[in-house]
Amino acid sequence: MHDQLAASYPSHLATLRERADRTLVLGGFDHLLIAAGTPLRKFLDDQDYPFVANPHFRHWLPLTDAPGSWIAYTPGQKPRLIFVQPRDYWHVVPAAPHGYWVEHFDITIVRSAAEAIVLLPDGSRAVIAAACPGIDSLETSNPQPVLDYLHWHRSYKTPYELALMREASRIGARAHRAAEAAFRAGRSEFGIHLTYLAAARQTDAELPYSSIVALNQHGAVLHYTHFDRTPPAHSRSFLIDAGASAAGYASDITRTYAAPQAAEFQALIDSVDAAQQGFVAMVRAGQSYPELHIHAHHVLAGVLREHGFIRMSAESAVESGVSSAFFPHGLGHPIGLQVHDVAGFQQSEHGGSIARPEGHPYLRMTRVLEPGMVVTIEPGLYFIDMLLAELRDKPVSADIDWAKVDAFRQYGGIRIEDDVVCTGGAPENLTRDAFAHHG
Ligand code: GLY
Ligand code: MN
Ligand code: MN
Repeated sequence: MHDQLAASYPSHLATLRERADRTLVLGGFDHLLIAAGTPLRKFLDDQDYPFVANPHFRHWLPLTDAPGSWIAYTPGQKPRLIFVQPRDYWHVVPAAPHGYWVEHFDITIVRSAAEAIVLLPDGSRAVIAAACPGIDSLETSNPQPVLDYLHWHRSYKTPYELALMREASRIGARAHRAAEAAFRAGRSEFGIHLTYLAAARQTDAELPYSSIVALNQHGAVLHYTHFDRTPPAHSRSFLIDAGASAAGYASDITRTYAAPQAAEFQALIDSVDAAQQGFVAMVRAGQSYPELHIHAHHVLAGVLREHGFIRMSAESAVESGVSSAFFPHGLGHPIGLQVHDVAGFQQSEHGGSIARPEGHPYLRMTRVLEPGMVVTIEPGLYFIDMLLAELRDKPVSADIDWAKVDAFRQYGGIRIEDDVVCTGGAPENLTRDAFAHHG
């Protein structure tokens, strides 16, 4: 892993430098300045929220714990890292720069964020920084044309980035295996969560997003981030949506399991899983993502019909909004340095936005797939009381087998989520490969 990163980092950096050169010319700037950022202080407190470094900073360097530090890039020059290593005996200070990337930077170590700012080059500067205490004295312009350009190109992952995303997937898959075993052993949601963290060897704050660990009907809450401390009397079903991080890159993985006595639910999981693999196979250059999302509605409506939940055709289920009651979120989103990565709607490197198809307000990706993009494919079917109540009041209600629907509420729902790379040929499924790796 380390050798692979060391081998692929130089060309990754060269790519970022080219992109920076181009956006600086377009924007008429001399320097690109990227702040790692500073931790946010809790109100009326002396404690900070967990620190999350600026994704632009993490794009250049595998440094996630470098508050106050800056990258300063001037075309034609070696990029500079102004690295803050405070004199502090209260906390563990960030380790001095080391590893495969240091030789590619001019590194200056300073003792405070204020000292770092003084060292930034003067001139016309494109600054990419969150507005936060400690950098008030500096223009935090985040020029939109620069962000648009850099975000657009962030959609195309370099081989170095893909290596890190494979690693994030392997860590996630390893932890998912442990979580499944904890479910089968009858643990509580809280217990499963702790098992997951232990197997990932990551703290909650290090994960790319808050894990969803849902037993039984809790699977119907799309963003269920509560953790029951006591196990239910019977764990019939388990939906876990949990990822992992690798040097600032995310994985985003969902699996759904049934207890052995819940054969009817397992059968539905198997159908969603088969459908999901069909959608993954369509992650190919030239495929419109919103069209894939609509296709998913038709296929999932077919699954609902096959399993006897609905009696109308798949077409009319999609048309009448029935499929949206069972599948009420988007098929997926771009992923990378952020779990919901940037530029999912972007029209070009100069900005602009591609609208969502009408009636699909939660889709997070409207672009056409191209090689280098990484997206999630995460179809689901849920039994959500609120949405089912709305459905019951509509004329289509007559074509729904409510007894069957009601019998499945106890299982909550199903989501299967993989992270998939669009290539010049067949897609690379980071998630399935990672599960296979952990056999
Ligand atoms: N875990 C967040 C998502 O699936 O988008
Ligand atoms: Mn997810
Ligand atoms: Mn996702």
